[in-house]
Amino acid sequence: MQAAAMPALDPLPEKSHAHQTPHHGWESNGGAAAVVAPTPAPRKLDGKVAIVTGGARGIGEAIVRLFAKHGARVVIADIDAAAGDALAAALGPQVSCVRCDVSVEDDVGRAVEWAVARHGRLDVLCNNAGVLGRQTRAAKSILSFDAAEFDAVLRVNALGAALGMKHAALAMAPRRAGSIVSVSSVAGVLGGLGPHAYTASKHAIVGLTKNAACELGAHGIRVNCVSPFGVATNMLINAWRQGHADGGGGDDDVDIDIAVPSDEEVEKMEEVVRGFATLKGPTLRPRDIAEAVLFLASDESRYVSGHNLVVDGGVTTSRNLIGL
Ligand SMILES: NC(=O)c1ccc[n+]([C@@H]2O[C@H](COP(=O)([O-])OP(=O)(O)OC[C@H]3O[C@@H](n4cnc5c(N)ncnc54)[C@H](O)[C@@H]3O)[C@@H](O)[C@H]2O)c1
Repeated sequence: MQAAAMPALDPLPEKSHAHQTPHHGWESNGGAAAVVAPTPAPRKLDGKVAIVTGGARGIGEAIVRLFAKHGARVVIADIDAAAGDALAAALGPQVSCVRCDVSVEDDVGRAVEWAVARHGRLDVLCNNAGVLGRQTRAAKSILSFDAAEFDAVLRVNALGAALGMKHAALAMAPRRAGSIVSVSSVAGVLGGLGPHAYTASKHAIVGLTKNAACELGAHGIRVNCVSPFGVATNMLINAWRQGHADGGGGDDDVDIDIAVPSDEEVEKMEEVVRGFATLKGPTLRPRDIAEAVLFLASDESRYVSGHNLVVDGGVTTSRNLIGL
């Protein structure tokens, strides 16, 4: 647990985002020669307090960076406290980290207590922490279904999200406001996009989101989720490594969750995802998921609840069987 005293806030130092439109000042009177200073982009989470589980790296890190850029005080709740502390130190005193395993109720309760004790309130919870589970030949078949593996994945992805909803809602309900955003997946929408346990857990998040929205609406709390397509993070690249171990079939004995992905692996993974994508042109990056989470976390979506915002460039909405 720590909060470092470094003032500079790092504005999303990601790789190129050619598809993102630059900000323009729209107040011009239309005169070609008029020089109008760009209006600063509004900060969408000013004064708000947010917890991001699994915020130390990957998609969670992008969410933490974007939330902080938009004025939120952010608590990273991650099992990897060293990485979370390092990110908090880089972003400044408005970001802190608490070690938290989302599958352990005491940890989740403590993370919420930490946020409220430190900042006096909780406005946003992003249930982002997740694990994919094994991606080997055996893990992919229901015929060799492993109950322990299923339990382990469901504990983090589904139970973790439910525990987050419970403890966040307890902190939010007295103020009759709050936004809970969980990260599901396209594997929470369609079959065939992930191992069985992962797919079940991500469908569970969509169901939990709808049910919790139904109950928590009475307390003024909105509950939504975001479902990304493939993003070249450690999770996806490790899965790819595992799937390609042993000449393509996947070997259960290979320990792949070791090395940080190289730039080359990230580029290769992005190329693979672009190949599967319906929408051609942009490359899906962590920042794109963070923008969707920001929308659901902020007051811009104040009447949206029980929604699954799918960020997949159309992959789950169609299958081109007629040569369109
Ligand atoms: N990368 C993708 O293609 C993709 C696609 C769809 C959905 N998702 C979902 O997005 C979320 C983030 O994935 P990512 O790709 O950034 O993964 P990642 O493996 O790169 O990062 C996951 C983060 O969660 C943390 N974490 C893992 N288990 C935890 C636990 N029990 N308690 C607390 N923290 C824990 C890790 O330490 C890490 O910081 C996950 O829920 C994942 O299922 C990812």
